[in-house]
Amino acid sequence: MIYTLTYESEIVKPMSEHEMGNLLEQSRKNNKRDNITGCLIYYMGGFIQVLEGDREKVSALYKKIKMDGRHKNIHMFSEDANVERSFPNWGMAYYPIDANTTNKSEFEQFKRNLLLLADLTEPKHLTAKLFWDRIKFLITNPPKDF
Ligand SMILES: Cc1cc2nc3c(=O)[nH]c(=O)nc-3n(C[C@H](O)[C@H](O)[C@H](O)COP(=O)(O)O)c2cc1C
Repeated sequence: MIYTLTYESEIVKPMSEHEMGNLLEQSRKNNKRDNITGCLIYYMGGFIQVLEGDREKVSALYKKIKMDGRHKNIHMFSEDANVERSFPNWGMAYYPIDANTTNKSEFEQFKRNLLLLADLTEPKHLTAKLFWDRIKFLITNPPKDF
């Protein structure tokens, strides 16, 4: 069975592209080794991530992620066990979307692309569906203090 979980968190302080690059490089290397796939969205000061793979491996990773000082208020909002992966070919797909570092038209374009992706993706199971639903919700109801 493929165990899947999805969580949401907030960044502690803005991360540079370089810092984000390091995080992704390390994540992709580890995830490849552990046969974990998923997707990470960075949206206006928050992360949403879905992780899928062997239950023990994913749980161990989530434990590490929860202790990571680069984000806070980490909370899982869905988990389940499934027969197949929703992100089989994505070591760790990454979508940054930040109103502060992109200009307005780029930002709007990015939001449209992400909404389109959310609509075109056919989630294979509930956790993946809730992941995309949450992204759609945040894009259409942005956090106020951003
Ligand atoms: C938002 C966020 C997402 C992360 N995603 C992953 C991930 O998918 N895979 C991973 O190995 N580490 C991820 N990390 C990093 C882990 O918290 C931890 O630093 C890392 O796994 C430690 O790697 P090491 O055991 O090789 O030192 C993430 C951290 C943050 C803040």
